Amino acid sequence: MDKFTVKGGNFLSGEISISGAKNAVLPIMAACIVKPAIYTIRNVPNLRDTRTMISLLEESGATVTFHENTIVVNSIKCNNPIAPYKLVKTMRASFYMLGPFMARFGKSTVSLPGGCAWGPRPVNFHIKALEKMGANIQLKDGNILCSGQLKGTNIKFEKKSVGATGNIVMAAVGAEGKTTISNASCEPEIEDLCNFISLLGVDIKGIGTDELQISSTALKHDNKIEYSVIPDRIEAATFMIMSAITNGDIIIKNINVKHLEIVISKLKEAGLNIDVIDQATLRIKKDGLIKPVDVETKEYPGFPTDIQAQWMALMCLANGDSKIKENIYSDRFTHVSELVRFGANIQVDGDTAHISGVKRFRPAPVMSTDIRASASLILAALSSKGESSISRIYHIDRGYENIESKIIELGGVIKRTK
Ligand code: UD1
Repeated sequence: MDKFTVKGGNFLSGEISISGAKNAVLPIMAACIVKPAIYTIRNVPNLRDTRTMISLLEESGATVTFHENTIVVNSIKCNNPIAPYKLVKTMRASFYMLGPFMARFGKSTVSLPGGCAWGPRPVNFHIKALEKMGANIQLKDGNILCSGQLKGTNIKFEKKSVGATGNIVMAAVGAEGKTTISNASCEPEIEDLCNFISLLGVDIKGIGTDELQISSTALKHDNKIEYSVIPDRIEAATFMIMSAITNGDIIIKNINVKHLEIVISKLKEAGLNIDVIDQATLRIKKDGLIKPVDVETKEYPGFPTDIQAQWMALMCLANGDSKIKENIYSDRFTHVSELVRFGANIQVDGDTAHISGVKRFRPAPVMSTDIRASASLILAALSSKGESSISRIYHIDRGYENIESKIIELGGVIKRTK
């Protein structure tokens, strides 16, 4: 397994360009199944997860090429609505195949995703909603077998779920009549998926809000569809925090500033100097001490759970005490014990982490546990004077494109070794 060796202590500066959003492109790739056509999708990050999604598409009978951040998916000959365990076990987002398979074939076999490093992650909302749409669902040998002609209906999620909203939007394209989703997820990645699906000729009302109406009509005859994926707000936020934690001065390009409002506002509260140059570019510079700022993770437009670990790394070096309350995944704190190796002072009490800022981190050998936890460890290592090592970095390769070359471009010292 690869590991990173990081020589921390450098000020990072310069310009970097953010890649396409992993959490937007994965459902968009799955949605290529919904209608037989040839899709050209641009701004696709080259990640382990996008390559897993390519394998899932190929398994279903699609052909896919991937070159310089553009994929071309030909889904005309898809005929195998199966997402096998060997792929699902490596990426939970494989579950996004369920909705498109049901929309196109009226049947599917999708292996059940397990939990993840920080606890169980159920899929009951997806299942209940499909059942309400008329699907017949059975669990057999760890697979979900789903079949039946779907019918439009009113779905109200008891809690906002990104994955369940995406799956039901895609399934609804093949349902008879109108599907209404209340308490839908408003994440920009879901908005992007809806915009993509609209290109197929589907009428979706309420895009970007928590109430979506999807009317299945005859899809457009046009079988060549082109789309470009939104920038990755989580990667952007990670680099913003990188500038903050390394006393840096970084210009971050190819972003959507609107998607980063809460992160910009919290970083400003923490004393960072942020200059929004235009809607796609900002400059972030450290200016004095980092002030302690409490955050609570929430659904969009709230503070993202996917930035909680990176924020924690920053707050560990703040000039005082702060709190982080994790509302989405109450036990998503596997990074805490690793941050403590760098000298952090953190106490976890249920869903809340209490952090007392320390003056500096010391270098340490640590281990990644998931994508965002790994990012927090890289941040801590970059700010510690001396050499740290981070093992199990395959997690980071699932979600950050070329992270080490981007860090090196900014003047950081990071090396991948076997
Ligand atoms: C997506 C993101 C992930 C992010 C998460 C929350 C992708 C590929 N992944 O994951 O990076 O951390 O949103 O922003 O986009 N829940 C249920 N039953 C369900 C579904 C969800 O109880 O059937 C609960 C979850 O346990 C969690 C909450 O709902 O507490 C939100 O989860 P959800 O939005 O579904 O997360 P994912 O779509 O899996």
